[in-house]
Order: sequence, then structure tokens, then C-alpha cells
Amino acid sequence: MASMSYNALPHDADAWETEAQRLSMHRPLVVTSRRWQHLFQTAKNLSPVFFDSFHPNPDYTDCSLGYEVYQREHCDGLIACGGGSAMDTAKGIKALALSETPVHALRGEFLSDRPVPPFLAIPTTAGSGSEATPNAVLYKEGNKCSLSHPLLTPDQAIWDARLLNSLPNLQKKSCALDALCQGIESFWCRAATKESRAHAERAILGVLHHIDTYLEEKPETFPGAAEQMMEASRESGLAIAITRTTAPHAMSYMLTKFLNIPHGCACALTLPYVWEHMTHSDDPYVQKALSDLSSLLHTEVQDGPRLFLGLLDHLRVLPGLSVPDDTLDALADSVNVERLQNHPETLTQEEIRKIYRQALFPVDPELLACARKVWSNATV
Ligand SMILES: [Fe+2]
Repeated sequence: MASMSYNALPHDADAWETEAQRLSMHRPLVVTSRRWQHLFQTAKNLSPVFFDSFHPNPDYTDCSLGYEVYQREHCDGLIACGGGSAMDTAKGIKALALSETPVHALRGEFLSDRPVPPFLAIPTTAGSGSEATPNAVLYKEGNKCSLSHPLLTPDQAIWDARLLNSLPNLQKKSCALDALCQGIESFWCRAATKESRAHAERAILGVLHHIDTYLEEKPETFPGAAEQMMEASRESGLAIAITRTTAPHAMSYMLTKFLNIPHGCACALTLPYVWEHMTHSDDPYVQKALSDLSSLLHTEVQDGPRLFLGLLDHLRVLPGLSVPDDTLDALADSVNVERLQNHPETLTQEEIRKIYRQALFPVDPELLACARKVWSNATV
């Protein structure tokens, strides 16, 4: 990763321009929605070109269109300002700029002789941590493509918590849950290292300690709580940049695609049931990971998933749907179990179907009562 720095500023509107110039940009392509374009219209020395034709779950064709604009306008750098979608679109555009063909771009097979566009990230949500990772999720003809290459990590990021001020409440919750899930999944991932664990711990505790204050939106705690959430989000990005994510993330994309559930909520719905399934594992690695996670959360191993479920109830994000059997079948069939290799235990198609059912249907009243009790007694 290049010189990533934590910059809770800027209080002056020119900070992005200073950073872009430091990265040798003259005519950056700014990947952002219309609502943020005003931030860049004060440019004194640069000539930004805007690209806003991308979707919440960006499609490969969005990136292709963006790259056409990048070439046509002779841009010399990329600025992504927004949530994970703006970041992932910019990463897709950068991949195209570095590749011989779109197929090579999606495989992350880059040419060594192409000039590498500098890349500045300005997150406007606290959740994906995408500004700190080399990963992007794009869709091609409805299918999920995971793109990852060290050159896709932004060279620099600017974190300005004031940008979180106007986010809708559901989006704040979903983004915070994304950061929390990324932290937990990274924590138990077999690829975890001492460094990734440290990032994951800070992400998990950061979200749990600050989520209520952040969601309350009281003037006296703003932007302090938002800054803490941005920091937790960044930590979750740094954690998964080392380990990648596991089953809850792999299963979330289908919930977003079929049921339009926002990404972070989609990850969070299956996570307590994936976690509960893991508590029955006799694999020493899984047992140790869950024991360490319980210590971090000051809870018993079997209460970890209940604590998480209690949080979802507290945040009022449990869906309580009654999804038809054929939808459950379609969800389970569309998860490629071979792609779950990053998850610390093997899950069968039938187990995945059962987890989807548990995640989407109303929670068993006895379990819910228990989860509420664990959550209300939590000391984390
Ligand atoms: Fe995520």
C-alpha cells in the first residue's frame, strides 16, 4: 500500500486538491454521485471530469463507460468520493486502464508497462473500508466478480467525518454492520495474522462502542462518534485486505441481488447463524478463534452469536420475512460452496439453505428472548 494516512481533516475545501496535486494529477476523473460534485467545483488548479453513471452494486459496464470517459477526456488520475460503489467503480476503471483486455482486467492480470493512474479515495460512508483495500466487487451480466490486486489500493485517502452527517439512518446502520461483519469474519478467518487480528479487534470494538452514539446524531457528539466509526471502518478494511471475508459476505451478495437487502444488513443477517454453526465445530482452529473472539467480547463462546443477534434486534434490522421455498433454494444454489474456501469450516449446500432460512424468517421467540438478555447484559 502506498502512503495511506489518516487525515480527519480537511476543514478547508481545498484539501482534496492539494492531495490530488501531490499525486501528480492535473485532470482527475472524479467518480462520485451528483450530490458530492459541489465539493470539487472549487478547484483552482485542476480540471476535474465527473463520472456518475454507476449503480449501487456496480456493474462491469459502469466501469467500462467510466474508462471510455477517462480516455476521451485525457484524464491522468482517479478520485473516488462516495461509499463502496464509487470506490469499486473507480477500482474497475483503474483495472481497465492497466489491462490489455477487459477479460484481463477482471482477472487482475495487469500489464507492467502501463502508466499507473494515481488514485485518491474520499469515503462518504463508514462501513466498507474499501478505501483501504485492494478489493472490488463488480457484477458482469448479473454474476459477481471479485477483483483484487495490490495496485487497486488507493494511494491516499481523506477521511472527513462531516461527510457522514446527511446519510439516511438505514444506510448508517448497514455500513456500520458491514464494518462489524468484516471485522468478525477477518478475526475468525484461517488467513488471520497477528496484524490482521489487531485491525479486526479495533474494527469490532470501534463499531460496538460507538454505534449508538453515532446513530443518535446529537450535535454534541458529532463529528466525534462519526470519526470513530470511520476509523472502525478503515480498520475493517485493513483487516480484510489481509485475510479477505468468509461465509457471511459470500452469502450476502445473493440477498442483495434477490431481495434488495443493503450489503451490510445482508452480511449481518446470516452472520449469527454461521457463527452458531461454528460453535459446534470440533476443529481446534475454529474453537480457538471463537474462544479468542468471546474473550474480546467478554462473553461465553455459545453466547457470541446471541450477542450479535441481540444487536440486530436492538438496531431493528431483523427482517422477519417468510421467503418461499423456491427462493430459499435459489439462494442456496447460487452460493458456490467451492468459493467458501476462505471460511474456516466446510458448509454444505443444505447447511447454507438452513442458514438463509434462519436469517430471513422471524427469529424463534425463545432464541430472541435469550439474545435480548445477552445483549442487555453485555459488557463489551
Ligand atoms: Fe463488506
